[in-house]
Amino acid sequence: MNMSNENLYTNESCGSSAVLRRRDGLTILAIESSCDETSASVCVDGKILSNFIANQTVHEKYGGVVPELASRAHMQNIVPVVDTALKNAGYELNGIDAIAFTQAPGLIGSLLVGGEFAKSLALALDKPLIAVHHMQAHVLANLIDDPRPNFPFLCLTVSGGHTQIVLCESPTTMKVIGETIDDAAGEAFDKSAKLLGLPYPGGPLVDKYAQQGNPDRFKFPEPKIAGLNFSFSGLKTSILYFLQNAGTSNLFKEEFMATEEEKLSFIENNLADICASIQQRIVTILLNKVKKASLETGITDICLAGGVSANSGLRKDFVEMGKKNHWNTFIPAFQYCTDNAAMIAITGYHKYLAGQFADLTVSSTARAEW
Ligand code: KG4
Ligand code: ZN
Repeated sequence: MNMSNENLYTNESCGSSAVLRRRDGLTILAIESSCDETSASVCVDGKILSNFIANQTVHEKYGGVVPELASRAHMQNIVPVVDTALKNAGYELNGIDAIAFTQAPGLIGSLLVGGEFAKSLALALDKPLIAVHHMQAHVLANLIDDPRPNFPFLCLTVSGGHTQIVLCESPTTMKVIGETIDDAAGEAFDKSAKLLGLPYPGGPLVDKYAQQGNPDRFKFPEPKIAGLNFSFSGLKTSILYFLQNAGTSNLFKEEFMATEEEKLSFIENNLADICASIQQRIVTILLNKVKKASLETGITDICLAGGVSANSGLRKDFVEMGKKNHWNTFIPAFQYCTDNAAMIAITGYHKYLAGQFADLTVSSTARAEW
């Protein structure tokens, strides 16, 4: 085996007889650990070869992510997750050219696990380190596969912690032109689900029940927020009152007319229609602002990103709105919508090309400016 040739390396994962494979381009190992998913990915010249994600089920019984439990689970997962991503890509650590990691924003304990692991690897392998902004990575998930948007494009980024309209001028130049002033869209889904007695994270369950329901059955109010910003806290309150009144005429008033028993049976008998109506309201709030942003900027290449872009109602209405308004619409493949390291890898690739590297003193931060 000739290890002196830089362009060749061994691929142990192909079995006991080591196979020599040609290094085919700029290879990035990426690590994502901002919340409750531990993920690693390998990309070569911007093409994703592997994207392995370990989900943490430990939070389900608490109705939300418990930060301390999340960081402990990341510590247990990080080595096997990185190992699996490398193996699935057919790579070894010595075939990696750079290491990218999520530096911010997120839960600080979670970020630290991935961040310190990435820094240790960069130091041990003497490879460049690339610090990635998690929300920018969600936007650039749209550059992973064809068809890709042309610059400049707009991106509606909707996740559990953020709701933003981003104007993206290049892979490394973006600005937020609208954002939520209170809850994020994912929180609106999750909090609504909690009020309906559904387990965390409730967004995908609201989506599932909504598919069998009538979205026009219940009318939830649309907030009046100026400009391109969003607000979801009023919707949550109106759902709370609506349920406490168990569908009586005082739909959105704080006068509780139903007993707990009546409320529960109302939810049980109308779950699909309630979910469909809530989902429709969240989707119209989001898409009305996207339309406004397109009209104001004149930009017609428009993307979705973030965990909530997995929502079937949002995906369908976004594509329909795009057709009506002659937009080019883009939605990342399902596995690149929720938290994943492939989006960190593609962002790392573009930052590498732009020469944007971090040094080993870089620290993880829970909040971050763009
Ligand atoms: O981007 P993400 O995976 O993590 C954060 O960075 O927050 O987004 C997670 C959010 C959660 O609020 C989850 O309920 C929501 O995305 N979500 C959905 C769906 N799938 C995930 N919300 C509605 N419908 C879905 N199908
Ligand atoms: Zn995310």
